[in-house]
Amino acid sequence: MKRQKFIAGNWKMNGGLQANAELLSAIGEGLRAQAPACRVAVAVPMPYLAQVRQLLAGGAIELGAQDVSRHEKGAFTGETSAAMLAEFGVRHCLVGHSERRQYHGEADAVVAAKAQRLLVHGITPIVCVGETLGEREAGQTDAVVARQLGAVLALLGSDAARIAVAYEPVWAIGTGRTATPEQAQQVHAALRAQLAGAQPGAANVPLLYGGSMNAANAADLLAQPDIDGGLIGGAALKAPDFLKIIGSTHDL
Ligand code: 13P
Repeated sequence: MKRQKFIAGNWKMNGGLQANAELLSAIGEGLRAQAPACRVAVAVPMPYLAQVRQLLAGGAIELGAQDVSRHEKGAFTGETSAAMLAEFGVRHCLVGHSERRQYHGEADAVVAAKAQRLLVHGITPIVCVGETLGEREAGQTDAVVARQLGAVLALLGSDAARIAVAYEPVWAIGTGRTATPEQAQQVHAALRAQLAGAQPGAANVPLLYGGSMNAANAADLLAQPDIDGGLIGGAALKAPDFLKIIGSTHDL
């Protein structure tokens, strides 16, 4: 089955009112010149949701967020609920990004609960999984990503068909060191098999690759049969690079 490609930018903790407007104006201009052959989204910092929603209105780019509370509402200072994200038109939300696992102690069960909360509010969780360099070198890559995804699949049951997954090897994030297309494909194929085995309806969920994806290497990665898109960090902050990555889906 041919799955539509999906390119999502993760702005991380970058941006500003003026910078956001300039970036999205340049990306919008590029997309008007050449209609995208893929779905496009940007996951922005919480304070900019309202601004970016307005900037994206009427266009093809979908709004995303980078994190969500696992709780529905209440006394959770500093948290943002899925209901709030939905009110701002958020369509996608990252959960379990490696930076959250690493710096904020997010365990597999927390990631799963966040995914569940998002689905209640009609937002697609983009579940991030990936091994560290040490885990890869110890031959644990498959076991680590299977454990991370497995926790989500176990909690969601048949709703697993409504998620997206991003494979982001930790050693490739922000390092300029990308997984080879073969390395990434291998993990994606294993994730696809795990999804299909857990829930037949989940066999075709979008599987994105992330980790130093850029204008030069995107086409080769995206040409792999089980790589359905990209989750782009640094290169999503530069309009020409992001547009080139989006453009590389035209020939696939
Ligand atoms: P880079 O593209 O900057 O390596 O970041 C990848 C990432 O973490 C996207 O979520």
